[in-house]
Amino acid sequence: MRPVRGWLVRLENAAALDAVVSPVQRVVRKVLAPGRVRDTLHGVDIGHPAHPILVQATIGSLASGTVCDLIGEDRAARRLIGLGLLSAVPAASAGIADWSEQHEQQMRTGLVHWGSNLVALSLYGASLVSRHRGRSTAARRLSLTGLAVLGASGFLGGDIAFRQAGGANHAEQVRHLVGPGWHTVGPVSDFPAGQASRRAVAGVGIVVVRGESGIDVLANECSHLSGPLCDGVLTSSGGDRCLVCPWHGSTFRLRDGAVVHGPATAAQPVFETRVREGSLQVRLPNAG
Ligand code: FES
Repeated sequence: MRPVRGWLVRLENAAALDAVVSPVQRVVRKVLAPGRVRDTLHGVDIGHPAHPILVQATIGSLASGTVCDLIGEDRAARRLIGLGLLSAVPAASAGIADWSEQHEQQMRTGLVHWGSNLVALSLYGASLVSRHRGRSTAARRLSLTGLAVLGASGFLGGDIAFRQAGGANHAEQVRHLVGPGWHTVGPVSDFPAGQASRRAVAGVGIVVVRGESGIDVLANECSHLSGPLCDGVLTSSGGDRCLVCPWHGSTFRLRDGAVVHGPATAAQPVFETRVREGSLQVRLPNAG
């Protein structure tokens, strides 16, 4: 195993970190209770996590501030570092909201990512203070060290996002796995009314919900982190029937798979349905 990869795997499996992760997660969940603000921080309105967008302003400003330091543009450096510190507030809030609803391995790496960011921001803050005190050499050293820590932290953020798929759409592959056309699922009488039942088409799990007005079929694995929607709770929101994921509470509208509440941000694939000779058939629009 390559050294960096080995270190990342050891970090994500460092169960000792759970002693910090668990209480912090409880506090975050209490402070950022489910609702509009939390959904916005997750990125429900834009269809993918908001954190990666928001960090652009922070990283860009702070890195540019350090570059200005290196070329002797102190006035510009002050402004950019100040902007970077301010923009870190929404970026960190979104990241913390996402972090609090992840797998334990992602949360362990995320805790170190979070801590590294705090160190980096503190170094940049200390750099600003040093400037005000007229200690320009110390200020430049602090901003340069802050950038190095920020880079290392960004590396961990990339590991969470890409290798551990922390912010990916875990249902995206469904449309590539299910072939076009109608697929027979089974006799309609096999699906009890008012319950979520798990089946499969073309090897892809689906969840079938039979209601009074018809049958709704969604991909079974939650777009957030692949939780089994067939074990979820049926509910309603704004007059629409919804299914709540048992793992982190993402709520999907049955008729179109739309995310009603996060942490999921990507809509759940939804199948068209029809009944032929008593059997349920499903088709995925844009499959293939
Ligand atoms: S897996 Fe996290 S909400 Fe479904």
